[in-house]
This record gives sequence, C-alpha cells and structure tokens, in this order.
Amino acid sequence: MSGPRILAIESSCDETGVAVVTGGRRIEANQVASQVALHAATGGIVPEVAARQQLRWIVPTLEATMDQARATWESLDAVAVTYGPGLIGSLLVGVNFAKALSVAHELPLVGVNHIEGHIYANWLADAEPGAPLPAEPAFPLLCLIVSGGHTQLVLMHDHGRYTLLGQTVDDAAGEAFDKVGRLLGLPYPGGPAISDAAAGAKPATRFPRARTRGTYDFSFSGLKTAVLREVAGFRDRGEPIPVDGIAAAFEESVVDALATKTVAAARDHDVAAVALGGGVAANRALRGTLASRLGAEGLPLLVPPPAWCTDNGAMIGAAAGFRFTAGDRADAALEAIPNLALPWLGPS
Ligand code: KG4
Ligand code: ZN
Repeated sequence: MSGPRILAIESSCDETGVAVVTGGRRIEANQVASQVALHAATGGIVPEVAARQQLRWIVPTLEATMDQARATWESLDAVAVTYGPGLIGSLLVGVNFAKALSVAHELPLVGVNHIEGHIYANWLADAEPGAPLPAEPAFPLLCLIVSGGHTQLVLMHDHGRYTLLGQTVDDAAGEAFDKVGRLLGLPYPGGPAISDAAAGAKPATRFPRARTRGTYDFSFSGLKTAVLREVAGFRDRGEPIPVDGIAAAFEESVVDALATKTVAAARDHDVAAVALGGGVAANRALRGTLASRLGAEGLPLLVPPPAWCTDNGAMIGAAAGFRFTAGDRADAALEAIPNLALPWLGPS
C-alpha cells in the first residue's frame, strides 16, 4: 500500500506500545507491553513505577515490533511518538527514545497528541498486504473519547480540525469506573471488572444521572458518591453487598449519560457518523447502547476492536500518517506536555 511507513511509539501512561503502520491505516505490527498486572497489586497506577516500567519495556517492545513487521530502518519513513497528554515520567521515556531513534537512523520525527491517536484508531485496519482497506470514516464525524484521563465529545470537521463540544466537569468516565471498582472491592482496573460483574446482572437500584442539561458536558463525581452511599447502607445494615447489581446500576447510569449526550450532539450537528475511542470504548454495554440508539437515528457507529481502544502504538501510527502527509515535523526540541490539548477551532 502507498503512504508513509511509520514506526509509532506510545508511552503516555501504563502501556508501552510500539507499532508499524503504513499510510496511516494498515497495521503491519503492533506490540503492547501492559503494566496492568503490576498496578493491580497497588490498586492503581503509581506514576514513578509506571515510568520505570516504560524504561524497562520500551526496547524489547520495539524489537518485537521490528521483528513482527520484518522492518529494516531503511524501510521506514518516520518515527512518531505521543508527546501528551499523559504522565510526565512515562511520556519522557517515549519522547526521548523516539528522538534518539530519529537522530540515529536519520528519520523525520512526528509528535502526536494521544487523544488524536484514540480518534484515529477508527482509521486502522489489519487487512493483508494487497487486500483492499475498508472505507475511511466520513466527515463531519462526532467523536466520543472516553478514557482513564479524558471524557470529551469532539466534532471532527476534517483531518486535524476539531471543535470541543463538551467534556467532563470532574472525573473522566474511566476514572469513575476505576474508583467505583475499588469501592466494590473489584480488581484493578475497575472498567473491565465492572463490565464483567454487570454482565447479566439486574441493576440493584437506579442511580441519578448528572444534571448537566443544556450542555454536552458530563459529570461523574455525584454518581461515585451515590455508589459510596449505597454500599455504606448495606454495610450499616449488616447485609451482603450485591456487587454485581450495583455494578450493573452504575454501568447503566454511565452508559445512559454518555449515550444521551452523544445522540443529542449527533442530531444537533447533523454528523455523518459517530466514532468511539479510548479505553472505556471497550465497554460492551456502551457499544451496544450507542449502536442501537444511533441506529434508530439512521446513524452509523464506528468502534475500533477493544485492543485498539485501550492504549497502543498503532493508533499513534494512524494519527501520525495524517500528520506526516500534512507536513508536520518535530525535532530535537520536542517536549513531553502532560496537559497537551487538541488544537481546538472556535465554536461551530
Ligand atoms: O485509553 P486508556 O487505555 O488509557 C488512558 O488513556 O486513560 O483507558 C484506560 C481506562 C481505564 O480507566 C479502564 O478502567 C477503562 O479504560 N476500561 C474500561 C473497559 N476497559 C478499559 N472501562 C469500562 N469497560 C471496559 N470494558
Ligand atoms: Zn488513552
């Protein structure tokens, strides 16, 4: 396939991802070293531990990727790396590693925004070389980005052109899953654990939906407090905590809030399709509810396979494909920016 062949590195949080992606779409290799098991022991991410693990795994992950892609350095057109948002210690590992590779192998360097990577996961395909790729997402595209650090509704007008429609005013959706998981005594990370506990369970109660009417914003901290109260009630009464039922009620509330705002924004902005991205997009209930509510509006829902929703290098390679073709180049001055935002356009 035509288009640049890019080595892409993702190290913004607790996964070390390295991929080779061609033309911003075709995955040739995609290796992820996850620290999930390690952080399960502490019930959450300890940033210093995450950064040390990035350093431990980045070289083996690169080697596995180069082997999988059967790539030589001469066959590559650029090195891309996430430079924010994320944890500073983790980001620095990938950024410095990518700079060194770019200098040593005389390859252009492309800096990628992690959120843009989650969006561009919707462009990825793992079709065999020579096989046709699926159609590209159409614009205007409404993107719901739901991860451990972000919850944003983004209107994507065209490649690289975004308007922020709404975002969480407190916790990110994934953060809420992780905190409630801990509250219910479920293993870390809470997202998949709650999703498993909730599967097939009847909601034990109906938790409130956040009052963010008239905006596309989200709020999850009130819901977290409501779960805390519910759990405390069972404890005070000396009754067993119906973990599965509470997990189901919590998940239902989060999914309803996300789906309601997303469908409203899709209608209001007359979009061509809706795309999901970020770790929480791996959630089955969210995917199912959104697909059926959007389907009722005649709107397609694009969702990457779960492995491309959680952090990985391929999504960075996808965004970098577009950035590289548009002429974006970074250099040795590229810095890790923990609170990096997308380049927002004004209100649409
Ligand atoms: O995108 P991601 O891998 O890392 C960040 O950029 O934050 O997202 C991680 C988040 C975690 O909060 C995790 O609990 C959540 O995604 N998550 C899920 C599921 N799988 C991962 N949340 C709900 N349901 C899931 N199946
Ligand atoms: Zn992420």
